[in-house]
Amino acid sequence: MMPNDLIDAALDARKHAYAPYSNFQVGAALRDETGRIHAGCNVENAAFPQGVCAEAAALSAMVLAGGLRCVEMAIVGGGDSLITPCGGCRQKLREFATDDMTIHACDETGVLKRTFMLGELLPFAFSPTHLGPSA
Ligand code: THU
Repeated sequence: MMPNDLIDAALDARKHAYAPYSNFQVGAALRDETGRIHAGCNVENAAFPQGVCAEAAALSAMVLAGGLRCVEMAIVGGGDSLITPCGGCRQKLREFATDDMTIHACDETGVLKRTFMLGELLPFAFSPTHLGPSA
């Protein structure tokens, strides 16, 4: 099934991106375990490392709304290259998702370029399972 609802939410989120330094706007939207959609955009900062990626913002929105798991995500960015989550965001996603979570990489018009599984992007991940059954 085409994740059009997720892509639309990511496109909407991207409109709110605050990226005055890179001028690289990103929107992300995820589906939680109940089917609800949570979105985020990148928010940069004059102190560069303090910037937040769109994927991390979407995860925060999910947690705030009581979502527990991320099952699918769409990411919308600019340019011709595929936009995939940065290394840090792959790890952040792994906290709330399993290897079979799908990640849809889309261009800035919402065309789906390629779908990945989290396990492809972050193989042999360190995850909550390493910290015992209660984690
Ligand atoms: N960025 C994201 O928000 N998500 C990605 O998947 C890659 C990069 C942001 C971080 C920064 O604000 C800008 O894009 C350029 O790196």
